[in-house]
Amino acid sequence: MRRASAATGATRRLSLAHVIPGPELRTSRLVLRRWRPSDLEPFAAMNADPVVMEHFPSLLTRDQSETMADRIEAGFVRDGFGLWAVELPGAAPFLGFVGLAPVDLEARFTPAVEVGWRLARCWWGRGYATEAGRAVLSFGFNDLALDEIVSFTARSNDRSQRVMARLGMTTEPADDFEHPRLSADDPLRPHVLYRVSRSAWLARR
Ligand SMILES: CC(C)(COP(=O)(O)OP(=O)(O)OC[C@H]1O[C@@H](n2cnc3c(N)ncnc32)[C@H](O)[C@@H]1OP(=O)(O)O)[C@@H](O)C(=O)NCCC(=O)NCCS
Repeated sequence: MRRASAATGATRRLSLAHVIPGPELRTSRLVLRRWRPSDLEPFAAMNADPVVMEHFPSLLTRDQSETMADRIEAGFVRDGFGLWAVELPGAAPFLGFVGLAPVDLEARFTPAVEVGWRLARCWWGRGYATEAGRAVLSFGFNDLALDEIVSFTARSNDRSQRVMARLGMTTEPADDFEHPRLSADDPLRPHVLYRVSRSAWLARR
């Protein structure tokens, strides 16, 4: 019963993306667009892949993926930005997501806007996250006029940190933090924070 109503709700919200269009970003290879109901299937499969979710506390069930897609869509409506669905035109309608989100944690560095990414495993190792991340940072600084964008991940997540570094984000040991929602003995609790300021970003252009 719950599954049926959650699915209907998520599908209804995602359909709204076509009624209330949000910003769409383009790179040389990718389109970053609002979500479609057809994204739910590959999104749930990605969130159920233990390799993709290695640095997260748990895999997501289908219901949890639908709830997350629903929250992402609500974020676009509320903020005018969010975690865009990433499409490779002519090849794959949904690689995963890359985008911006207000950080929903109480931490030394909040309030802040973070850039984040998650791609299905078969799309790793081709530069797509970095390419999409660059377009998203450009949108954040040029269109939203943000002063700073952060990114954070478990210390063990080297791949994600390499994306951050390639985007010109930098980290300081003093910014390391313990994720407040993870227990003290959780190996994922130690986190690193990367930042890039608007002035540093513009200076690199
Ligand atoms: C984090 C994540 C998006 C990074 O994916 P990724 O494929 O390593 O990153 P990119 O898409 O930017 O690809 C970069 C890699 O492609 C290689 N590459 C191959 N062809 C390329 C091309 N044409 N252009 C650029 N890079 C290319 C690069 O050398 C680089 O490899 P390296 O890091 O081993 O040097 C991915 O691992 C993921 O989704 N992880 C699970 C979710 C997650 O942890 N999210 C972050 C939580 S904060």
